[in-house]
Amino acid sequence: MKTAIYPGSFDPIHNGHLDVIERASKLWDRMIVAVAFNGAKTGLFTPDERVELIKASTSHLGNVEVTSFEGLLVNFVRDNKADVVVRGLRAVSDFEYEFQMALMNQSLDENLETVFLMPSQENIYLSSRIVKEVARLEGDIDQFVPLCVKAKLLEKVGS
Ligand code: PNS
Repeated sequence: MKTAIYPGSFDPIHNGHLDVIERASKLWDRMIVAVAFNGAKTGLFTPDERVELIKASTSHLGNVEVTSFEGLLVNFVRDNKADVVVRGLRAVSDFEYEFQMALMNQSLDENLETVFLMPSQENIYLSSRIVKEVARLEGDIDQFVPLCVKAKLLEKVGS
């Protein structure tokens, strides 16, 4: 039984994240999507709201669990006896940050492997930041987020 952990901020989950989750859920027996909770960094959604939105968006996938964690990712991975960390890689601009994180995690735990998956082309330019901005400016976000996320996002930004 191989377990993969997909960590992130997910503030909120968008179709690019969902694309990576769907791909990973076919590759590993058990997928844990983990919302990283950082007390110093507040977002638009609370960690619990993010978890609920991910759960609602992934309910069609039988092997996906959703939770949140605080502290170092390497500890969370170890506690959950996971085999790999999955991250999405969209463009060259993501590479430096992802490379830095993967190498830091490898230094903290030499057994931790990071695997990168690419979303499909239509999701490659998506980011939570940009989706929130479009929602705030009353643009159409239908094609970027699951419906349940759209409803909550519009509530938050007051559109
Ligand atoms: O969606 P994001 O913001 O790119 O995700 C970044 C995340 C949450 C995966 C990263 O910040 C993280 O792993 N945070 C947990 C704290 C940690 O382990 N930091 C050291 C490794 S970079």
